[in-house]
Amino acid sequence: MRPWLYRLISALFALLLLLQGGRALHVNKARTVENSFLPGAVWNDSEGSPIQAHGGQVQRMPIPDGNGGKTEVYVWVGENKTDGHLGNPVAVYTSEDLVHWTCRGDVLRPLDSVEQIDTDPYFQALYGSYGEEEKRNLFDCIGRDKVIERPKMLYNAKNDNYVIWFHSDGPTEKNSYSYDLGMAGLAVSDSPFGPFRFVGRYRLSECPEGQIDCYPSSKGEARDLNLFADEDGTAYIVYTSENNKTIYISRLNEDYTGLSGKEYGVDYLRIFPGAMREAPVLIKAEGRYYLMTSSTTGWGSNQARVWSADSIFGKWHSDGNPCAGKGRGVTFDTQSTTLFQAPNGQWIYGGDRWNGENLADSRYVWLPATFEDGKLSIQWQDEWHWD
Ligand code: DGJ
Repeated sequence: MRPWLYRLISALFALLLLLQGGRALHVNKARTVENSFLPGAVWNDSEGSPIQAHGGQVQRMPIPDGNGGKTEVYVWVGENKTDGHLGNPVAVYTSEDLVHWTCRGDVLRPLDSVEQIDTDPYFQALYGSYGEEEKRNLFDCIGRDKVIERPKMLYNAKNDNYVIWFHSDGPTEKNSYSYDLGMAGLAVSDSPFGPFRFVGRYRLSECPEGQIDCYPSSKGEARDLNLFADEDGTAYIVYTSENNKTIYISRLNEDYTGLSGKEYGVDYLRIFPGAMREAPVLIKAEGRYYLMTSSTTGWGSNQARVWSADSIFGKWHSDGNPCAGKGRGVTFDTQSTTLFQAPNGQWIYGGDRWNGENLADSRYVWLPATFEDGKLSIQWQDEWHWD
């Protein structure tokens, strides 16, 4: 989508937001209850700096315990948007209680120049052995002027390592638009705190023969994406493809570093052709799979939509808008990015409230989520706590 079209759509959605009463959701009061969540308020880390983990994912995962073993904590991975739109480092935070977060730093860093690979010890250690062409290619993939968005992380028990997949984008020879390339980037590390080594960027599954491809001129695109690991360790990458018109779910290989195969219905599924959804979140709750998505309106919020299924590659049913109450028409002025469980089993929806004028000041909105009669439901709260 062209930048001017994004701006026009964002303006229209700002108007819709006003009509929906969404502005009433922009509260910035002080906590009245200790350790509560204040959706949309500035959220500082343990050092007193605003948390920079946008388009991210929260999950409980094993991390090194310092004695050669593992311990479990909550890990929040996301875009560090301190410097604005492009070339975002991937940041990681950890927490025990979901309210207080410790910054673990930028675990995947973008490059300022090709030369930096040789002059900066951080990059030298990761890519120093690269030839000239590989270095230029690396800069082309993770340079400061490229899109590094929606990073998600998985722990791979087989290899005892961590993988990050993210939306890797940039212009092409045909088009100077920053989102023309439409690829998924992969980075790997032995530690969730990095440094993650960028491995490559890829086009993913393609529309199979016999189905109507909504964007046949550009096969295998991947933009907004998420990751999901099932109870048996099988992992999936879920992403918007076909110029943001169709969501795909593709099974990952055992290393989580590529696709498991190319067989339709076995290795991947194409869902909601033409529905124009992005910001996918795939989870399993109470034995059922849920896929939450947004519409495609740039940094502007819009109406969420959920589908659910008994099995990942089974039949997906449309469950409509999961949001209830004030601001339901614009997902409480957020865009979906994560769904996870608190220690007491309480599900939590995490959304980004983007500030297109100042992306570094985009906020987080976390709200309680419930599953009743097989349906996801999210309700606005000015302030709440999970215990
Ligand atoms: C919507 C996507 O969900 C975001 O991650 C980002 O790519 C914006 N579009 C850019 O306009």
